[in-house]
Amino acid sequence: MKRKTFLLALLLLGCTLVHAQEKTPKLVLQMDKPGVTVSPTLYGLMTEEINYSYEGGLYAQLIRNPSFKDEVRGRGHQGWQPFFAMGKPAYWSLCDSLASDMMIDRNEGINSANNVSLCLNVKESGKSTGIINDGFWGFPVRPKTTYNGSMYVKTDAADSPALTVSMESLDGKTVYASTQIAGVSGEWKKYSFSFSTSDKVVPTKDTHFRIAVGSAGKYWFTRVTLFPPTYNNRPNGLRPDLMTMMRNMNPKFLRLPGGNYLEGNTFADRYDWKATIGDPDLRVGHNSPWGYRSTDGLGLLEYLEWTEDIGAEPTLAVFAGYVLNGDHLAGDYIKPFVQDALDEIEYVIGGTDTKWGAQRAKDGHPGPFKLQYVEIGNEDFFDRSGSYPGRFKQFYDAIKAKYPQLGIISTADEKSLKGVKADIIDEHYYRDAASMYRNAFQYDSYDHNGPKIFCGEWATREGSPTTNMNAALGDAAWMTCMERNSDILIMASYAPMLVNVNKGGMQWESDLIGYNALNSYGSPSYYAQAMFGNYLGDKVVPVAGEDIPKFELPQSREEKQRGMNASSVPEIYYVATKDSKTGVVYLKMVNVVGKPQKVSIAFDGDVKVASKAIKVELKSANPSDTNTIDNPKNIIPVKSNIKVSKNFEYTFAPYSITVLQISSK
Ligand code: AHR
Repeated sequence: MKRKTFLLALLLLGCTLVHAQEKTPKLVLQMDKPGVTVSPTLYGLMTEEINYSYEGGLYAQLIRNPSFKDEVRGRGHQGWQPFFAMGKPAYWSLCDSLASDMMIDRNEGINSANNVSLCLNVKESGKSTGIINDGFWGFPVRPKTTYNGSMYVKTDAADSPALTVSMESLDGKTVYASTQIAGVSGEWKKYSFSFSTSDKVVPTKDTHFRIAVGSAGKYWFTRVTLFPPTYNNRPNGLRPDLMTMMRNMNPKFLRLPGGNYLEGNTFADRYDWKATIGDPDLRVGHNSPWGYRSTDGLGLLEYLEWTEDIGAEPTLAVFAGYVLNGDHLAGDYIKPFVQDALDEIEYVIGGTDTKWGAQRAKDGHPGPFKLQYVEIGNEDFFDRSGSYPGRFKQFYDAIKAKYPQLGIISTADEKSLKGVKADIIDEHYYRDAASMYRNAFQYDSYDHNGPKIFCGEWATREGSPTTNMNAALGDAAWMTCMERNSDILIMASYAPMLVNVNKGGMQWESDLIGYNALNSYGSPSYYAQAMFGNYLGDKVVPVAGEDIPKFELPQSREEKQRGMNASSVPEIYYVATKDSKTGVVYLKMVNVVGKPQKVSIAFDGDVKVASKAIKVELKSANPSDTNTIDNPKNIIPVKSNIKVSKNFEYTFAPYSITVLQISSK
């Protein structure tokens, strides 16, 4: 009898425990409680020349090494001399190496920016020889498409020969588009050309560009360019598919031009904005810190037009006298750079009656651009010299004196600034998903009367070259934190944004948008951000969570490295905002575990709730699932209608990010 009672008691206790564990989590949307205002600039984009983001990416120019500044490098014969220059241009080859040879000519150029050329020596007439460019892992051939190009050429051949330019298959057997350049002479001259593909062409990137020559003689070439159609048909413009993807994220700003790209490895390779404007044929180009040369074809004006074309505003980062090798300037030596920054701001927002505003008009954009924020340098928390507070103050004072309306962003935190005033602090977080979950309440504990925060670089780094669903879950959990606190966290931009997925294209793993010469795709992280950016109200709705389930999350590798402790973390993350004009509430829910989550959702306060709502859901069966260039739409958001009420239950799918768009009055 005693034993029976004991067993019964045990059973009852077990049931109670199971019941306690299985209590339905509840979210109460406190509609009558005033929520903080959502920053109108909350979600934006960050960019720099990394991962062939511009060259071989967004910048639509297709010829690689157009001015023959990159040379083939070979291994030397002696161990102490690892490389030597061979005078052969990288990414260019001869059509017929018996009939011709080629060499970079350092004595022949067209101007100080393009002071070298390629000399092609054709030994015999009658044989069609010439040079071939590989492009950036091919050229995008599409049906019924016109390509516009140009090049500077001269020859010592007496008969004013013609050249044939074409895009063709790698074996040369199929010519997709072709035209002739007639009457090449002994003087340098710029020749423009265009050719079109037929409507029968099957899209391909397995192609190259050929310049064919039929007459013997020497030929010099430089600044060979080729453009497919560009976004908004801008000359010297950008790639339409990538621009459309960015626009679809509804970004409010674009942080430019970096990142490390702003700083450069050395002073010579800093982002010198004045060298990036005006005629592209007169831009020298410079080395990006990510191991390759930028032509600066995508220069400051192209950046600004890019922001305009995607409906965003620039957040301008100005060079602040610190470069990646640790060199820095301070005191009087920094003054020219402060002036450069003032000139740059004038180029962006000055009237046409100012020197640099007039230059902008001359370059093709008379109207000023919008600008609210200027950032001084990049990641100056790495500058161990202690020079940043002084450098920052010089920029801050000079910019505020002339443009008091601008918010000035520091790239070091308040403590490192040692009492120097900043309007906004830029914080960077690269984490794995576990660390994102653990930090998904970070901004709740910040002083909301303290300085505003710009999370200028952040990412959950899982998946390569682009991120997977696990990263998207980490991103979304982190975004709930930023959105809930967007009275202080006023801007956020993921990094890096772009990656060319070809072998050799990536320098930084886990990126947002991948592409090759022909196609592009968004990672699950891309879609998560597009959901957060597009479904956003102007007021945060406070949400009280009850019985939120938790799970034990062991230390991730990254957390071990950083000496961070393991802890249990919530299985679900959430945030709600409301559009105060329309009454639409956007409830965002992130379920980071592999089981469905039944959640009870209640609207508290004097409010009527519509019976039908729109659900947008991004989910996958496994967190390692992803999108690729060959399977670009494996994980995409799906829209459907669901039934809701003032008090309802909803089951969220395993590994899912969901937005419920619910109308209220
Ligand atoms: O986003 C890649 C790099 O990470 C940025 O260039 C730099 O600012 C950061 O360290």
